[in-house]
Amino acid sequence: MNFAKRAEELSDQIIKDRRYLHQHPELSYKEKNTTAYLVASLKELGIPVQTFEDYTGCIATIKGGKPGKHTVLLRGDIDALPIKENSGVEFESENEGVMHACGHDCHTSMLLGAARLLWEERENLPGTVKLLFQAAEEAFYGSRYYVDKSYLDDVDAAMGMHVWPTGPSGKVLVKDGELMASCDNFIITVHGVSSHGSEPQHGKDAIVAASSILMNLQHIVSRINDPSNSLVVTVGKIQAGTQFNIITDKAVMEGTVRCYSKECRAMVEENMRRIVECTAAAEGCTAELEYFYIEPSLVNADPMLTDIARKAAVKLYGEDGIEEAKKATGSEDFSYIMDKIPSSVFLFLGCYDEEKGCVYPVHNEKFKIDEDILHRGSAEYAQFAADYLEKMAKGE
Ligand code: NI
Repeated sequence: MNFAKRAEELSDQIIKDRRYLHQHPELSYKEKNTTAYLVASLKELGIPVQTFEDYTGCIATIKGGKPGKHTVLLRGDIDALPIKENSGVEFESENEGVMHACGHDCHTSMLLGAARLLWEERENLPGTVKLLFQAAEEAFYGSRYYVDKSYLDDVDAAMGMHVWPTGPSGKVLVKDGELMASCDNFIITVHGVSSHGSEPQHGKDAIVAASSILMNLQHIVSRINDPSNSLVVTVGKIQAGTQFNIITDKAVMEGTVRCYSKECRAMVEENMRRIVECTAAAEGCTAELEYFYIEPSLVNADPMLTDIARKAAVKLYGEDGIEEAKKATGSEDFSYIMDKIPSSVFLFLGCYDEEKGCVYPVHNEKFKIDEDILHRGSAEYAQFAADYLEKMAKGE
């Protein structure tokens, strides 16, 4: 089975789907019209599709005609972002202030393309393919619904993909091991004593204490962390004070922590708490830390699956069709699916193309993609699933 040619023939259809989705973007948990579009398209093809009364997204199931006990899951996310589009494409968002600026419209149409490819070849598939059109990736927890409600209990292996603007357009980017970072957030509240700005001796300045905490937090990265582990600690928001001549009694800081290893992730909260509390005390203030574990890191831990993904891309487009992916400090809620199904892999599909003006990062209002590569994403999805099932059926 080689899906390259058929995927290219389906390119116009995939682009048509993508443009519709791009023009009608919906925010996380609100992907009702998107889900309806997908369900209608899948039903029209004759593919069985499961929907959820209390949740958006859907799962299509393609049972192969050959003997095979394994089930492989392909996942594409479907939600958009609260961004006002300024990409200049003729099919710009009709939903004011909402934009597919992370390429999830591409993932959705690529996966729909893969459904078409796999459905046509179903008699030759030795096993089952589930296609998860997943809601609310941008909300950090979207994938958990399908995991928690046991909809993925019968899945043996999973693959997800993201269009990637730092990689050359059309190349499948694969990497073993750490790929995307965990994402945890924190809120630090500092309490002091207010006084007149001209009489600091009568107060306990929450802003000064917060500033010291802010600087000391970086010591988690530079002095406490094992330097062989990547770690980012960022404070992105500070709120304090009411007027220039008042020493304020309260300062609130919010930030995020990104890393890859479980050990690194586990040590941050404890160290942060000590620094926050002790630094505040040194300034005569008190402070508390609220720490939220949002998304685990994404690690391609199964070399068999990265191997299948690489070989699938080479089979489709030759050695030129793949490249080594670089680690990213962004996060992905596919990591929850990975936690549930350890035999999982996540890939990038490069989409940077200077000539076509596809140079903007994801989450940018000008984000644009070369649509001629979308069929390649469909082919990689389908090829991966078919090759995985074949390998399993042969007992390799
Ligand atoms: Ni995304």
